[in-house]
Parts: sequence; structure tokens; C-alpha cells
Amino acid sequence: MHHPAVVDGLIGKYAIATDDGLKSKILATLSRLYNREAPYDGSWWWGTQPDTRGPYYKPVTWEKSADIEKLFRETFAAANVDGKDYLISLANRHRMNLEGIGEVEKSKNKKIKTIGQISIENIMLDLDKMKGKPSKGMEIMKTQACIACHSIKDADQKRGPELNHIGARLDREAIAEAILKPDAGIADSWVDVTKTDGSHIQGTLLEKTESQVVIRDIAGLPATLKAADVKGIKTSASTIMGPHLMDALTMAQFAYVIAYLHSLK
Ligand code: HEC
Repeated sequence: MHHPAVVDGLIGKYAIATDDGLKSKILATLSRLYNREAPYDGSWWWGTQPDTRGPYYKPVTWEKSADIEKLFRETFAAANVDGKDYLISLANRHRMNLEGIGEVEKSKNKKIKTIGQISIENIMLDLDKMKGKPSKGMEIMKTQACIACHSIKDADQKRGPELNHIGARLDREAIAEAILKPDAGIADSWVDVTKTDGSHIQGTLLEKTESQVVIRDIAGLPATLKAADVKGIKTSASTIMGPHLMDALTMAQFAYVIAYLHSLK
């Protein structure tokens, strides 16, 4: 039954049906199809009390839930009192959790927000309260894009500024800010070198002596310039690090990452 074509067919039929009894039946079937059983992945089965209220042990929405919700909302808006009561009873019976139509279970109400949905001010306030475990942060870091540009361990290939000892230089808040607003404060080591011939090189400054300047580009290649060819070196005005890299993490995951980076001393 949980087939997109079945739902499309029922919604199409509802649109042209004139018989009230038939329309009610279609709505009842659709309300039952709103959720489906969560795929069995072993993680919830033993820990979950079988839920005897509905046809599913662990209801989850699926690709057609949004279309069913749309029909319910349109029908609800146009319905008289009895019609609205009927829709509410269906929504409650099948645990559709439609805000404004029937009950919304508490757990459904507070969806966990991700970093991209929280203001930077609130992230900073939360970070102050959440210390987080470095070991968990290390696991999360392994899955992030950061390592394409940054080294974390001594053995890693170096490209952008290294994060190997970032915790010794920046506090937790500054590390968080570097991730959330990379443009706001550019790392001192990320420089723009102007050569006497007028050309520029952007990269991480590795060495600056009286005779030479060594700079590593983001691909990881070091370039050695004669000091005489260098007109000036200044902290770069722009970064190539994007601001939304950790938007998909939850606050807790983000706090773990910050704890981990801060532990790199
Ligand atoms: C496209 C390459 C790139 C990616 C991907 C990237 N960064 Fe960066 N990052 C940079 C560059 C370049 C700088 C130096 C300029 C600046 O401060 O923004 C930097 C700076 C930083 C700094 C400040 C370093 C210092 O010494 O002050 C931190 C912390 C940081 N990045 C963390 C991260 C984390 C965590 C991620 C993954 C979410 C990440 N970066 C992803 C290129 C990148």
C-alpha cells in the first residue's frame, strides 16, 4: 500500500469524487498511509515498547506524507465543523502530528535543530554550557570536509593552516567563530604575498627569513621565494573556507568538535 502511485491515485480520485461517503473513505485510507513502519535496523526494536495505538510499531513519515498533509490541510480549511471533527479524529487515530489539526506529540514538537538553524549568538551561549567529549568530536571530524584543507595530526598532509595545535592558540569560542564566520577573523598564517613584479600568492606562511619566504598553497605545495622578490606580506583579506560547513551538525555534535579541536595542544 505504501506506494507513491497508490497515494497519487487516491488523491486524484478524491479531487473528482462527488460522493461524501467515498470521500470520507479516501481520507481515512490516506490518513492510514501518512506514516509507514520504520525500516527495521535493529537499533530501536528492543528498546522500544511496541506501540499499540496504531497500525505501526514505530511510525515514520515517507515521501508521500507531504502530499497527504497538503490534502488534509486544504480539506480542513474548507470543511464545516463536522468535517473538521472527522479530520481531527483521523489525524489523531493515525498519529499524523499535524500542527493545527489534532494532537501533536511532544517528542514530535521539539525537533532537534541543526547548527544552520541556530543563530551564532545562541550557539555561543550553548557552547558555554556544553563542554562535550573530545573523543566523540574526533569521530565527527573524520567525516567532515575540514580535513581536505587542514591537517590535524602530524602525519596528515598539510594544505591550509594546520589545526594540529589549534587549542594552544585559540580558546573554544574563537575556534567556533573561525568555523561559523571564517571571514570575520582570518588566521595570521593565511597570508597574501605581493611580489615585486606585482603578482600575488595566497597561502599559509611557513617561513620568513632575511633570505627567503616559504608559502604553501591550498593544494599543499610549498613555494620558496627569494626575499628580494617579495614586496610585502600581509594577512590575507579573504579566506577560501566556506561559512556553512558544519550547518548540518546538531549543537551537541558541534560542541564535541569544538572540544576535540580545543584539546589539540
Ligand atoms: C576549502 C578549504 C577549507 C576547508 C574545507 C575548511 N577550512 Fe578552515 N581554513 C581554511 C583557510 C584557508 C583558513 C585560513 C583563513 C581563515 O582564517 O579563514 C582556515 C582557517 C581555519 C581556522 C582558524 C585557524 C587559525 O589558525 O586561526 C579554523 C579553526 C578552521 N579553519 C577550522 C575548520 C574546520 C573545523 C573545518 C571543517 C568544518 C574547516 N576549517 C574547513 C580553509 C578551509
